[in-house]
This record gives sequence, structure tokens and C-alpha cells, in this order.
Amino acid sequence: MATGRSFTLNTGAKIPAVGLGTWQSAPNEVYEAVLVAIKTGYRHIDTAFVYGNEAEVGKAIADSGVPREELFVTTKLWCTDHSKAAEALDVSLKNLGLDYVDLYLMHWPVSFAPGESLFPTLPDGSTAFDKSWDFCKTWELMQKLPKEKARAIGISNFSTVNLNILLESSICKVIPAVNQVELHPYLPQHKLLALCKEKGIHVTAYSPLGSTSAPLQNEPVVKAIAEKLGKTSPQILISWAVSRGTSVLPKSVTPDRVRSNFEDIVLSSEDVDAISQIYKTTQKRVVKPNWGIIFHDDDF
Ligand SMILES: NC(=O)c1ccc[n+]([C@@H]2O[C@H](COP(=O)([O-])OP(=O)(O)OC[C@H]3O[C@@H](n4cnc5c(N)ncnc54)[C@H](OP(=O)(O)O)[C@@H]3O)[C@@H](O)[C@H]2O)c1
Repeated sequence: MATGRSFTLNTGAKIPAVGLGTWQSAPNEVYEAVLVAIKTGYRHIDTAFVYGNEAEVGKAIADSGVPREELFVTTKLWCTDHSKAAEALDVSLKNLGLDYVDLYLMHWPVSFAPGESLFPTLPDGSTAFDKSWDFCKTWELMQKLPKEKARAIGISNFSTVNLNILLESSICKVIPAVNQVELHPYLPQHKLLALCKEKGIHVTAYSPLGSTSAPLQNEPVVKAIAEKLGKTSPQILISWAVSRGTSVLPKSVTPDRVRSNFEDIVLSSEDVDAISQIYKTTQKRVVKPNWGIIFHDDDF
């Protein structure tokens, strides 16, 4: 079991290596998934305001009986709330039924027009951005969030270009603890990982199985290593992410998968290297909303 594995953030706190992802985990299925996960030994749960499931995630955490201080809970500031980070954090804490989160992330480096809709649009159907705002202003507000409510703050979906803009901005007084990004063998993020390492920013890998239906489990190199070791492809993909020093967030609402994804597999350096070469033949980003240039061309 992966219970013991963790990484240390630049705040000094530990982030458990394998966390349960909850995007697209519907409110009627996420409760059970989180409960099974915590019973299995997961101590890291990832959610977001926009997933619409914070309340059920929080209920499962409460019902698990595991002391709050043993858990690492992440949630995220949605794009319509960039100019009211403190209020948005309070809403998420209320939804979760928690006094604090271990990590609060700026979900995307884009600001939408505030209002009722989480995905506001202009009359022509395109996204209504808040052009008076930018992610440096968001970070300025996030830096002021009370530590008792957000133990660490971080970013998500930041490319090397946007990360450098943030770090070079005069408002940047707190180095993000984490950059949570899509990361798997089709998108190994070599450059971004190196930059984050240099700056002391921990990277968390999302969509480690290739997202919906776990397409990467059928990748021949991964399958061959799984067969050789008598393990499953998802276990190999999750272990590959941990071997590279990233925490990783496999999502499942299927109890057997939640359990098996948590098994600790140690990969040889040859197997890690073989998986790290897959991007040379196949490159793919799965989560790519049409919100202008977010991912610059240096991501692979
Ligand atoms: N910051 C961001 O913008 C962002 C974006 C995307 C994701 N994330 C986070 O990262 C988490 C993971 O990413 P993801 O949800 O995109 O995808 P993922 O974890 O790569 O894949 C999830 C898919 O794989 C299936 N699966 C899981 N374990 C399996 C196994 N052992 N065997 C076969 N299939 C398996 C799941 O099915 P079942 O559930 O039906 O079992 C689901 O269809 C998210 O849930 C979220 O917490 C963050």
C-alpha cells in the first residue's frame, strides 16, 4: 500500500503521493468512492468548487472517522471567483464542512466574468472573460488568505510561460506550493517539471490514466511492463508518476479500482525510462478547454 509515500512542500507540510481524484465523480457516487479510498489508506483527496461535489466529499471525510489532521484535502478557486478569493474559499469550506483545506489552488490561469454562471458566455457563445483581471491579481488575493483556512496555496494548469510571468511579477511574495497539471506518458511535462523543481514548487499529476475511460492503460509499453510484473496498467502509470517525484490523482468511483490504484509498485529505472520515452511517438493533451492560449508550445 502507498500509505507511507509522501513529498514535502515548500511550506514544510507533507503531501501524500497518491490522492483520489474526484472530477466527474457525480454527487451520488463520490461519497462511496471517498469512503472506500480513506478506508483503503488514501490520505489525500482532490476536489474543486466547480466539480459540484464538495459537500459529498466532505460528508465522506466526516463519516470516515479518520482524524482531520491525518488527511490532506485540496480544493480549487473557480475562474468566476478570481476577484473574491476569500469569499470563495469560505464557500468551499462550508460545502466541505471543514475549518481548513490543506491546499487551495487557482484552478486555471484565466478569469471569467463574475456572476451566476460558472461558464459565462457572450451573445456569440464565446467565453466571457474578465478582461479587467489577470492571474497575478488573483495570486495577490490568494497570498492574503488566512493560513488557518488554507494551509498552503498553489496553482493549476500553469505552463512554464505563465509560471515565469507569475514568479517575475512584483506582487509574487509567496512561491506557489504546488502546480497541479495534466501529466502522463503522452504529456510527461519534462520542461515544466524541471522549472518547478528549480523553483521549489511541487508538481501534482492529474489525468494520470489519460482521463475518461483510462485510455493510457492500453498503451503497449505500459501493458508489457504490467504483464511482466503481474500488475495492472493503471498501477504502472500511477507508480511511474510517483517515481518521477510527482504526487498523482487517479480518479475512480469503482471500489475495486480505487483499492487497486493505491497498491505500491516499485518500478525499475529501466521501466521508468521506457515509459518516459512514449511521448516521442505519441503526444497528447486531453484536458484542453478553448479559453485562449493557456498551454504554450513548450509543454512536452
Ligand atoms: N486541476 C485540473 O484542472 C484538473 C483537471 C483534470 C483532472 N484533475 C484532477 O485529477 C483527477 C484525475 O484525472 P481524471 O479524472 O481526468 O482522469 P484519470 O484519473 O486519468 O482517469 C479516470 C478514468 O479512469 C478510470 N479508471 C480509474 N482507475 C481505473 C482502473 N484501475 N482500471 C480501469 N479504469 C480505471 C475511471 O473510471 P471509473 O471512475 O468509472 O472507475 C475514469 O474513467 C481528477 O479526478 C481531478 O481530481 C484536475
